[in-house]
Amino acid sequence: MCGIFGCICKADNVAPLIHTGLKRLEYRGYDSVGEATIEDGKLFVKKDAGKIDEVHLKCNLDDLPGRIGIGHTRWATHGAPSSVNAHPQFGCSSPPRFAVVHNGIIENFAELKRELEDNGHVFKSKTDTEVVAHLIEEYFIRKPQPDERRNTEPAGVSKFEAAVFKSLSRLEGSYALATISTHEPDKIICARNESPLVLGISEKGRFFASDVPAFLPLTKSAIFMRNGELAVLKRTSFTIRRLSDRRIISREPKLLDWTPEMAEKKGYPHFMLKEIHEQPESLRNTLRLQDKYLNLLTTFLDRAHEVIMVACGTSYHACLAASYMFSKISYLATHPVIASEFSEQHSKSANIDSTILAVSQSGETADTLAAVETARQRAATILGLTNVVGSTLTRVSRVYVVQQSGPEIGVAATKTFTSQLSVLSQLATQLAKKRGKISTEEIDLLEEKIKLIPEMVEQTITSQESKISSLARKFRDEKCFFFLGRGISVATALEARLKLMELAYVPSIAFPAGESKHGPISLIQPGFPVFFICPPGETRKTLMGNISEMKAREANIIAVCEEGDEEIIQLADDYVEVPRGIPEVLSPITYVVPLQIFAYRMATEKGYNPDMPRNLAKSVTVR
Ligand code: AGP
Repeated sequence: MCGIFGCICKADNVAPLIHTGLKRLEYRGYDSVGEATIEDGKLFVKKDAGKIDEVHLKCNLDDLPGRIGIGHTRWATHGAPSSVNAHPQFGCSSPPRFAVVHNGIIENFAELKRELEDNGHVFKSKTDTEVVAHLIEEYFIRKPQPDERRNTEPAGVSKFEAAVFKSLSRLEGSYALATISTHEPDKIICARNESPLVLGISEKGRFFASDVPAFLPLTKSAIFMRNGELAVLKRTSFTIRRLSDRRIISREPKLLDWTPEMAEKKGYPHFMLKEIHEQPESLRNTLRLQDKYLNLLTTFLDRAHEVIMVACGTSYHACLAASYMFSKISYLATHPVIASEFSEQHSKSANIDSTILAVSQSGETADTLAAVETARQRAATILGLTNVVGSTLTRVSRVYVVQQSGPEIGVAATKTFTSQLSVLSQLATQLAKKRGKISTEEIDLLEEKIKLIPEMVEQTITSQESKISSLARKFRDEKCFFFLGRGISVATALEARLKLMELAYVPSIAFPAGESKHGPISLIQPGFPVFFICPPGETRKTLMGNISEMKAREANIIAVCEEGDEEIIQLADDYVEVPRGIPEVLSPITYVVPLQIFAYRMATEKGYNPDMPRNLAKSVTVR
């Protein structure tokens, strides 16, 4: 997730406006930043790696001439944070004639890049975005081919606009992008497909942004662009056209009643709730990983003599869930280890035949990096899964995959957890394909289900959120909870417990349901709240026995089960339903969502701030 913002003004120099607008979008990404403006037919640019304030201190982002410009604050997905990978991106011409800023993922950028290089284009960056600038340049200068009919664009579409239309028709994937050109310096062209894009209309001029906070202090009059639309912004006018047929769309601006602070959270009271609701989008982005990195990782996993996964906290729970996925889907035994325990458990046994898969959202967790370093010293192969390009983990890994969840501002991991699980399930499925361990029908089914998960998560949130909120009100004063599951649901139970502890400060216990009678059941008294995570599958029948055990001791049974699972619903005192159709081996991705919401609501019921739980930091960079 990145932030784009730009404007064309009647009188004001735009650079300072763009700088402050990007600052208000910093929660969307902050590993590099840049601006480009046009004055007297020339493009001016300032960009570098680093947070906005750091780059501004270094090169003064306000000091660019011109009343038209575009800006970008980046969360890297392709290409580490650097000056050359920062946006805006340019074509080949010197001096540059086209500048582009982009938020999203161009899935077919590699093939477009090869085509453009064959046409003589020279690329400078490792970004997917750069292909857009070269495409626009290519279509702008290209003479129509003999078989191409003369300019087929409708009247009123300029040469620059036509080049943009043609370029966008070649893109696959998500984008909210904007471009300016010295050929037609009186306009900004912006377009949307899946990534958010909103226009701001004011007396000063016209604005575009990923999100309204960028221009809210300047105007509350906004137009939310829809997928497949392109807008041309001029100083005193704008035109919106449909990409498919160039038809002009008329759309009245909406008057927003948000404060800038509310807008940063898209109207949600906390970043954590916003990020829970962002999971369908972040999961869709996690389905857009580059195959070559997944293939590389699965090659190493396939050849490994032993695979040890190391992580902390929520990332460890992702590893625990993954160990069931690798075992059941790929027939690969893996060992999830809490990173701070790795040295005690494996510092002597890890060796050149060991493969370490380190999972860390931040890529900076000290315990995880320490475990990796111990393993490296034993000549083990290091693989990484992280959300931050350029993080330490990416530098110490032989191969790594970036999960593309976008920045997570809330201290508690939510969307990054479900994205980690999505990546790990894709790895397990690709590995199974490579090893030929399960039938192609089974693999096709799994791949189809993985693709359906974003929609299932969306349905879960929409259909269950208010019920979960009422459960939080009902149980707000409870002093302790059990979270029980069997098989892969043990990972879901552990994650649910962690969420409730770290956000609502409620002591909670999670363990395999089969363990109850080996001790913990002694804690049960009438009314004691016990969550059971019961997806359909092999563990469900035995789990029903565990539920009955607890019920016999008058525990309060709260079941998270499949929609319409009447047997479980009959047994439970309260229940939350998750959409049908998710296989048990993928179930943590959808079953954890109601439990994230429960923990969030318990915290707010108790008057705590879920975004900043006491004693916790977003990234634990000390041991
Ligand atoms: C989870 O909600 C916590 N924020 C914490 O357990 C976190 O998952 C852990 O510190 C690991 O962080 P990492 O994924 O950045 O390495």
